[in-house]
Amino acid sequence: MIQKQLFDQTVGKLLMFFISLLFLLSCKTEMKNKVESPVPSIIRTNFGTTKNNEAVYQYTLKNRKGMQISILNYGGIITSWTAKNRKNEFDDIVLGFDNFTDYENKNPYFGAIVGRYANRIEKGTFELNGTQYQLPVNDNTNHLHGGLKGFDKVIWEVNTLKKDSMVGMELSYTSPDGEEGYPGNLNVFVTYALNDDNELSVTYKATTDQSTIVNLTQHSYFNLSGDFNKEILDHEVVLNAASFLAVDATLIPTGEIKNVKGTPFDFTAPKKIGRDITIEDPQLKFGLGYDHCWVLTDQSSENKFVASAYDPESGRMLEVYSTEPGVQFYTGNFLDGSLASKKGGFYKHRTGFCLETQHFPNAPNEPAFPSTVLNPNEVYESQTTYKLSVIK
Ligand code: GLA
Repeated sequence: MIQKQLFDQTVGKLLMFFISLLFLLSCKTEMKNKVESPVPSIIRTNFGTTKNNEAVYQYTLKNRKGMQISILNYGGIITSWTAKNRKNEFDDIVLGFDNFTDYENKNPYFGAIVGRYANRIEKGTFELNGTQYQLPVNDNTNHLHGGLKGFDKVIWEVNTLKKDSMVGMELSYTSPDGEEGYPGNLNVFVTYALNDDNELSVTYKATTDQSTIVNLTQHSYFNLSGDFNKEILDHEVVLNAASFLAVDATLIPTGEIKNVKGTPFDFTAPKKIGRDITIEDPQLKFGLGYDHCWVLTDQSSENKFVASAYDPESGRMLEVYSTEPGVQFYTGNFLDGSLASKKGGFYKHRTGFCLETQHFPNAPNEPAFPSTVLNPNEVYESQTTYKLSVIK
């Protein structure tokens, strides 16, 4: 009898112990989940309608660290991108609008996928296999960023992607033969993939049925302070490039590959964007600041280190890796206070910077530059990775 009582008591105690243990374990998981999201997620919301009555959707990708990136099916535009500062506070670090109408009517390529040809083609003309092509001229005397209706202004098909440690989107678009003057039907695929290390990879693929030219990039404007009323001049930038392409007054490369040594274009060691930007220099005058293509020291098609930018105040650090041979570093020189910020106020001069990984501007007219020709039976492939972190 006594033995049975003792036995019952022991079993009871053991049961209580296991129940408490289970309870404690579930509390712990719940607490952990409050800090980090349980699984990467992707949510679709309505963002408006184009003038042609097409529905515009915004997809918000979220990783386990809580980073959120919102992307439109229109132009593949990144409308917002949150990253933590030194105090563990999230803030949106890319310029953009809070409504679709502004994206449709006056977007200076904020966050967009740019193509078929990112950057400038002199007078919008080039020769390919004996045919002279004329593209629209939309930047003074030149063709810029794919023309009047480039890839930044079209609706892309979207497939969402979700794996254990990655959330993403695959965008596809078929650019018909002759669109914006370019030859060949071009099938384009762009994949955005956000992982749990706060890396966003952008992978580009394209195929054509006729020889054409292709040069794709991503045109996000960053301001790592998260305060869009602040200029980006205090950001410390590194560009992994010993030379840059000198330009003429219309920002077309002259063909001269200039060594950065002893010039304001030297970013081989960390340097504040504002340190040399006001120096009397004809190249800076042409660009109203930095708006040039740097020739990466490593010309391999590895996904190699291209650039970094660091905001000492918030502690946010952006690193860029790419398979591309060049990077257009643009310091928001054309922002003039006329565009309304999604955070209130207006985007003033130099409140954002872009690191546009790409082939060189005007390459179709410069035989010495790496070729941008894509032939049938070839695949255009390119990748750029953006990594955000905090320096304590
Ligand atoms: C690129 C160009 C700049 C400017 C911006 C958009 O960075 O190089 O000259 O056109 O896009 O305003």
